[in-house]
Amino acid sequence: MQKLTTPEELADMCRNWRKGGRSVALVPTMGSCHAGHEDLMRHGRALADRLVISLFVNPAQFSPAEDLQAYPRVPNQDAAVAKRCGADVLFTPDSSAMYMPDHATWVDVPEMSGLLCGMQRPTHFRGVCTVVLKLFLLTLADVAVFGEKDWQQQALLRRMARDLNVPTRIETRATVREPDGLALSSRNVYMTVDERAQAPEIYRALQYAGDMVAGGESNAATLRAAVLRRWSERLPLGRLDYLAVVNPETLLPIERLDAPARMACAVRMGMARLIDNILLRNE
Ligand code: PAF
Repeated sequence: MQKLTTPEELADMCRNWRKGGRSVALVPTMGSCHAGHEDLMRHGRALADRLVISLFVNPAQFSPAEDLQAYPRVPNQDAAVAKRCGADVLFTPDSSAMYMPDHATWVDVPEMSGLLCGMQRPTHFRGVCTVVLKLFLLTLADVAVFGEKDWQQQALLRRMARDLNVPTRIETRATVREPDGLALSSRNVYMTVDERAQAPEIYRALQYAGDMVAGGESNAATLRAAVLRRWSERLPLGRLDYLAVVNPETLLPIERLDAPARMACAVRMGMARLIDNILLRNE
C-alpha cells in the first residue's frame, strides 16, 4: 500500500492505472475507521483492480460550532485497517492540499441540502459534495462505496453525480451495527456509559415503525408518533433533532406510504449527534 498526500500524486497514479486498463474503486473516509468502514473497503476491494482509500477530515463539512478539532483521529490505526483491507493507495492530504487559501468553488444540491440533517447543519452537505466531487475527479474511479447510515449524504451524492454526468458509479452498503443494534459511528465514543446504554433504542424504535408498516400501517404521522412515544419512555437522555418519513428521492416529507419510504432521524446523546434510518416497505 502506497501513501500519497498530494492531489497531483493521486491523479497521476490513477491515470497510470487507467492507461494500463485497470479499474479503480474509491472509498472516501474521514478516518477513525470501524467495522463499517472495513466493510466498505472490502467491498471496494472486490469491485475493482485497484482500491483507493481516502482519509481526510474535511473541514468544509463542519460548521465553526462543530467538532472539527475534537473529531477522533487515529491515523496509524486507520492505515493498518486500509492495508488489511487490501488498499493499493491511502490518500491522506492536508487541508491546504485540498483547499487553496482562496478556494471559492462549491458544489451543492440546494433543494436537498437544507432538509433533514441540513436543517441543523446548513453548510454540511455543500462541504461533502465538494470534497467528494474533488475525489471523484482526482481518481476518476469506476465505483465509489458509501454506507447506508449516511443515507441523506448518498441521496445528494447520487443527485450530484447524475446532474453533473459524473462517470463514477455509487454503491451502497448496509449499515454495520453493534450486536444491540446501535449503528457504528466514529462519534459513538463521545457517549457516556448511560447514554450508550440507551442509544440502541434509536434503531429499535425505527424497527418498531418498520413492523407497524409490515402490519399494514401507512400513515406517516401515526408512525412518527409511535416512535416519539417509545423514545419518550425509553430514550430519556436523547434530544431529538428530527424524525421524518420522506420520499427517498426528493427527501420531502410524505403523508401516506404509497411506495417505499425512508424514516430518518438525528438524536443528540450528550456530545454525540447520532443519525440512523430505515427503509419502510408497505409491499
Ligand atoms: O461519510 C463520510 O465519512 C464523509 O462525509 C465523506 C464522504 C468521507 C466526505 O468527507
